[in-house]
Amino acid sequence: MSTALTLTTATDADVPRLARFVNRAYRGEDARLGWTTEAHLLDGQRIDEAGVEEMLHLPRATFVLAQDAGGELLGCVHLRACPEHLYLSMLAVDPARQGAGIGRFLLQSAEEHARQQGCPRIRMTVISVRQELLAYYQRQGYQPTGATEPFPTDTRFGIPRQPLELLVLEKEVIFGDEVRK
Ligand SMILES: CC(C)(COP(=O)(O)OP(=O)(O)OC[C@H]1O[C@@H](n2cnc3c(N)ncnc32)[C@H](O)[C@@H]1OP(=O)(O)O)[C@@H](O)C(=O)NCCC(=O)NCCS
Repeated sequence: MSTALTLTTATDADVPRLARFVNRAYRGEDARLGWTTEAHLLDGQRIDEAGVEEMLHLPRATFVLAQDAGGELLGCVHLRACPEHLYLSMLAVDPARQGAGIGRFLLQSAEEHARQQGCPRIRMTVISVRQELLAYYQRQGYQPTGATEPFPTDTRFGIPRQPLELLVLEKEVIFGDEVRK
């Protein structure tokens, strides 16, 4: 990765720019600049400011931000420690900066966070028809568990253009030399 990145955790002051950033990466014309997007599958927003604020204040949750030296937001990921796993969501990279390793860097930071929180695995859900994204996550060590979840019907998260389903993916976290069961 050529850009020097700094990782920080979001505060309330980051809510407006985070909501703008996530919507730009997931939906609309700008999202189509990236190598993977859900803009062809969903209309509407990915999230609003109230939703970001709610996620920020969930128990044992954090938004990790990747910024360049000038403080420009280049990537983010939401992490929530649950008893059985670390739940990872809203991984997003600036569409103009994708393919340079920022996504991988954020996934590595999630593994470090899981170790710090004592979470034995990381869980995420991915829309089942996003084959290129599923292949990416599998190359990063995430495997489908066989479980599925319905796509949320709450239109605050978008309006599907076709029936959508979510696949549950997990990755075991390595603690030292051991995988903790
Ligand atoms: C998913 C996302 C976070 C990845 O971030 P990124 O910074 O581009 O990721 P990286 O640079 O670490 O890796 C890019 C990967 O894409 C692959 N890639 C690049 N162009 C591609 C293409 N046209 N088709 C398929 N894969 C491609 C690269 O080979 C690389 O994979 P590898 O490291 O296994 O070789 C980013 O694309 C994004 O924000 N997408 C929109 C939001 C989203 O859909 N988030 C995930 C929701 S679950």
